[in-house]
Amino acid sequence: MNARETFAGGVAVITGAGAGIGAGLARHAAGLGMTVVLADIDAGAIAALRAELEQQGARAVDIVCDVRDFAAVEDLAERTYREIGPVRLLVNNAGIEQFGYLWDTPVENWQRLVDINVSGVFHGVRAFLPKIIAAGSPAWVWNLSSIGGVAVVPLQAPYIMSKHAVLALTECLALEVQHAGHDHIHVQAVLPGAVASNIFESAGGVTDGDVGAAEAQRVAMLDIKATAMDPVAAAEVVFDQAVDGRFYLLTQPEYVGSAMAERADVLRSQRAPLLRTTQRFDPAKH
Ligand SMILES: NC(=O)c1ccc[n+]([C@@H]2O[C@H](COP(=O)([O-])OP(=O)(O)OC[C@H]3O[C@@H](n4cnc5c(N)ncnc54)[C@H](O)[C@@H]3O)[C@@H](O)[C@H]2O)c1
Repeated sequence: MNARETFAGGVAVITGAGAGIGAGLARHAAGLGMTVVLADIDAGAIAALRAELEQQGARAVDIVCDVRDFAAVEDLAERTYREIGPVRLLVNNAGIEQFGYLWDTPVENWQRLVDINVSGVFHGVRAFLPKIIAAGSPAWVWNLSSIGGVAVVPLQAPYIMSKHAVLALTECLALEVQHAGHDHIHVQAVLPGAVASNIFESAGGVTDGDVGAAEAQRVAMLDIKATAMDPVAAAEVVFDQAVDGRFYLLTQPEYVGSAMAERADVLRSQRAPLLRTTQRFDPAKH
């Protein structure tokens, strides 16, 4: 079965659907004939995307939801099942970035990132999985990790930590679904490489300490954006890999795959983390 045959007519719930990868997944899901539930804290962004998708003849609903708030995610699940239908695809996608040395990171930025990137994914699982299990119809659960989920990078420690956490959570969840015999549920981890989005512009920084190093890292990451993949093209790759039954869904299979191989090699050889010369901060350049 291809992606259209698998997903057409089903309901997709996507958190962080207002921009970037989430919006790309929503546009592609709508194009496949899915009803799309757009969840985000940015009410204007999801209202505009809903209007765009409806104009193209798709069925879309926008629901403002802060994934940090479990009651809000529970409400999202309740409304979806009551007003729209059983979920065929849940994408726990909302996520934010943070730049700067860990010792300079504002405590509130750390907390916000953990609440969104890690607890937000758990909230999605906790609110939707019981309903998906009870419904008993085929369903897919995608959690957004990252190439950063298999890499280590200086000046982005909270983000990298959160993406390792989401990958481990998702791997454990896949085992638990097998353990409990819920064979109709496909748990998969999405590891994007570089996909065009707003994540680096809206990322947190530092207010005291080495602000220059934090902002230089933001600039370095914004540079990568020039070669980033289009989010709808990325979504197409992810959907196609999902229906192929892969667990690790990679937007750029070669690029992300080589990072996975490198990580495996580091762990196998028990090498200490070593800064690459390209990662060294040169104050003279900034
Ligand atoms: N863009 C990339 O290259 C890339 C690479 C690897 C992983 N990812 C992951 O993909 C996911 C999406 O990132 P993106 O690059 O599209 O980012 P983005 O900033 O373009 O979009 C993120 C969306 O999430 C929403 N959001 C933020 N906080 C929220 C909250 N508390 N509740 C609900 N929604 C919230 C934002 O309003 C925004 O619409 C993230 O989990 C990110 O870590 C992105």
